[in-house]
Amino acid sequence: MLKIAPSILSADFAYLADEIKKIEEAGADWVHIDVMDGLFVPNLTFGAPVVKKIRKVTPLFFDCHLMVEGPEKYIADFKAAGADQIVVHAEATKHLHRCVQQIKGEGMKAGVALNPATPLSAVEEILPYVDMVLLMTVNPGFGGQSFIESMAPKIKRLRQMIKDAELNVDIQVDGGINDKTAKLVREAGANVLVAGSYVYGAQDVKAAIASLRA
Ligand code: DX5
Ligand code: ZN
Repeated sequence: MLKIAPSILSADFAYLADEIKKIEEAGADWVHIDVMDGLFVPNLTFGAPVVKKIRKVTPLFFDCHLMVEGPEKYIADFKAAGADQIVVHAEATKHLHRCVQQIKGEGMKAGVALNPATPLSAVEEILPYVDMVLLMTVNPGFGGQSFIESMAPKIKRLRQMIKDAELNVDIQVDGGINDKTAKLVREAGANVLVAGSYVYGAQDVKAAIASLRA
């Protein structure tokens, strides 16, 4: 099932509650929450205390994308703050399996993210334990970058890998998604689409979200 997950990274942080209501009313399925630590990626955003505050604003599913070194340190905090899913980068933890177990143990959904240059073999062994794989379609750290075209065949290969293993795993894409690239990634086999600047930069947010499904 197709899900649209606008990223609040491109929202106006001075009006965060209104910005979240806006996407909820416009038909978003999930809220994509980009957590950056200035170490794993060259940028800083926010952490669990902000998630806890915005939890009061919407019933939407909170999809927390942790772009942080050693994400295992923060899992309990994000659970307490109201996260529904935690996505960790395979490149950011020495013990990915333990980390995924920790997330599942807290009763949340678990995802694993891969940077553009990380091969799919990095998720081969963890695939049976996760709900979702996030394929980065830009280098993480900033909104508003261009989609890396060579990620389309990578999505296709991952969809085949999941099919061959007879698993039910979502494929999420993140970075440079707009109405045109959305079509490309959907056809390649992605079913959860993150979009930041495209959604929040639109005059008509409802039409922008609908255009990602069309
Ligand atoms: C990038 C973040 C993305 C980002 C996407 O590091 O993980 O979620 O907000 O932004 P756009 O859609 O503008 O490329
Ligand atoms: Zn993200």
